[in-house]
Amino acid sequence: MLDKVKVLLDEVSSYSPKNPEELEQFRIQYLGKKGKMNDLFAAFKEVPNDQKKAFGQALNQLKQAIQDKLDEGKASFSENTQQSSGLDLSRPMSADQLGSRHPLSLVRNEIAEIFKRIGFTLSEGPEIEDDWHNFTALNLPDEHPARDMQDTFFIQQNPDILLRTHTSSVQVRFMENNQPPIRTLSPGRVYRNEAISARAHCIFHQVEGLYIDNDVSFADLKQTLLYFAKEMFGDKTEIRLRPSYFPFTEPSAEVDVSCNICSGKGCNVCKYTGYLEILGCGMVDPNVLKNCGIDPNVYTGFAFGMGIERIAMLKYQVKDLRLFFENDVRFLEQFKSTF
Ligand code: PHE
Repeated sequence: MLDKVKVLLDEVSSYSPKNPEELEQFRIQYLGKKGKMNDLFAAFKEVPNDQKKAFGQALNQLKQAIQDKLDEGKASFSENTQQSSGLDLSRPMSADQLGSRHPLSLVRNEIAEIFKRIGFTLSEGPEIEDDWHNFTALNLPDEHPARDMQDTFFIQQNPDILLRTHTSSVQVRFMENNQPPIRTLSPGRVYRNEAISARAHCIFHQVEGLYIDNDVSFADLKQTLLYFAKEMFGDKTEIRLRPSYFPFTEPSAEVDVSCNICSGKGCNVCKYTGYLEILGCGMVDPNVLKNCGIDPNVYTGFAFGMGIERIAMLKYQVKDLRLFFENDVRFLEQFKSTF
């Protein structure tokens, strides 16, 4: 019996596994349920008493030798895998590729920040609208010719359900649910059935603002827009208001800012006028206030609306509006360092 243990001991000490699978086989062969060690332990009963001590010691020695072999093999294989896969856990890690914000988001956030500083909060509404919120409540009853100013996408031939053509619909919803003082800014995506070109798209983004309180005047509107233009385009920026028409405001105006490329001297971006048109605005028509449950005898207000694409084109001097929708990473990556 003792000799048998000695033979196994020699076998174990001369054994050298070539790979982890072989080592596992070795473990099963010796330490597994039906392995050689269990056989030997079972045979222990039959050993005469006077030899039990020596036999026990030999068994322990063998078991230890097997364990050492296993530990040794495990360590050497794990070193090997590290080397062969080139994995070096002590190397400094490489920085992850960072994404960048879309330029339209950057501009929207900046506009929101500027108006937040003078007390405007954000409001949002649905992109699929009904006729009331997009047109009728805004002083555009059925058959009103000004409905043609905004080529509308209707949903499934239903003239009552449409894709909103402006975010003024959000302001209607806000007025219906809140009483003055109201100071809210509504950014969002809008839709118009227009041919796609370098200057127009059928999907674009707007930010509209609404301020309603006691004694809000046109002078307040002008000062608010001058503040915005200076914050957005620089302290030297000037604004110019031209009379215009919107069904939901009276009086109405279109606002130009002095060209930030030639500082008003005249260049091909401003078509040598020194000014660029950025938004429409006016005093909220009393009919609109009434339609939305606000008493026009007590309150007055102003509203304004601008296209985010247009502001982004001016700010980043992008000549083709379609670039904002193509998501070409070479274009988007240029905005990486801006937050
Ligand atoms: N809703 C108008 C548009 O889509 C913009 C606007 C908003 C004009 C508020 C005046 C007042 O063009």
